[in-house]
Amino acid sequence: MKGIHGKTVLVTGAASGFGAGIAERFAQEGGKVIVADIDRQAGAAQADAIGGTFLQMDVADDTSVRAVLDALAEPVEILVNNAGIGLSPTPLTEVEPADFERLIGVNVRSIYHTARAIVPVMRSNGGGVILNIASTAGVSPRPGLTWYNASKGWVITATRSMAVELAADNIRVNAINPVAGETPLLSTFMGGDTEENRARFLATIPLGRFSTPDDIASAACFLCSEEASMITGVALEVDGGRCI
Ligand SMILES: NC(=O)c1ccc[n+]([C@@H]2O[C@H](COP(=O)([O-])OP(=O)(O)OC[C@H]3O[C@@H](n4cnc5c(N)ncnc54)[C@H](O)[C@@H]3O)[C@@H](O)[C@H]2O)c1
Repeated sequence: MKGIHGKTVLVTGAASGFGAGIAERFAQEGGKVIVADIDRQAGAAQADAIGGTFLQMDVADDTSVRAVLDALAEPVEILVNNAGIGLSPTPLTEVEPADFERLIGVNVRSIYHTARAIVPVMRSNGGGVILNIASTAGVSPRPGLTWYNASKGWVITATRSMAVELAADNIRVNAINPVAGETPLLSTFMGGDTEENRARFLATIPLGRFSTPDDIASAACFLCSEEASMITGVALEVDGGRCI
């Protein structure tokens, strides 16, 4: 992929799942990868494994995001807002306020915090690329996950709006909508990792399998590369046909 080699790439939530796969792929393409995660142990291990740098960051906390980004020696050229948390299937009136707040902090406010810290840097650097990991949940919501679904709908709208506002600064902004994927989060969404739950979810995915970190990494690399230089404001489904 053209345009990744030598670039400084910050991937949030890169200690696990999709983020770990994305960070690994960018490192393989020659990017200087920063693994930013709240989990120090897993984040440091992933950074070591891919030859990247680990920075501990709570994306829901503006002060934490600022402190980390202010300390960076080199400007971030590619930002992947991947960190996110899920909900277990719960009737929408029964989600506790503290869980709702945390969900909004990690899935929604994070994008605002990183934009405030990194967009000015990209502007003064002549441009950049931002990729947000949203979800098919924001397009084709499943019952029992309403506030999670809504948080991802917000990410899709934020992506489109950021794209149109930042185009003049040569900053492209896209999203990926993964379908249920083989990561530690899958069990949360399914309400437990059982054969029955897997079969129920798989029945809604025409290609008949869950997404993988490799699937998401391939799309991420393309959207952040120069091959996609005319693409901004899309929310690309990587979903085996789930949203058709
Ligand atoms: N797995 C799925 O089925 C699925 C489907 C669609 C979209 N997504 C989205 O993909 C993204 C990655 O999910 P995943 O399945 O790889 O999850 P995961 O749980 O495997 O990994 C999430 C990572 O984010 C980190 N993280 C959590 N809170 C954080 C915070 N406050 N600050 C910094 N890091 C934090 C975790 O420590 C973890 O390393 C999320 O945005 C999720 O909503 C996942």
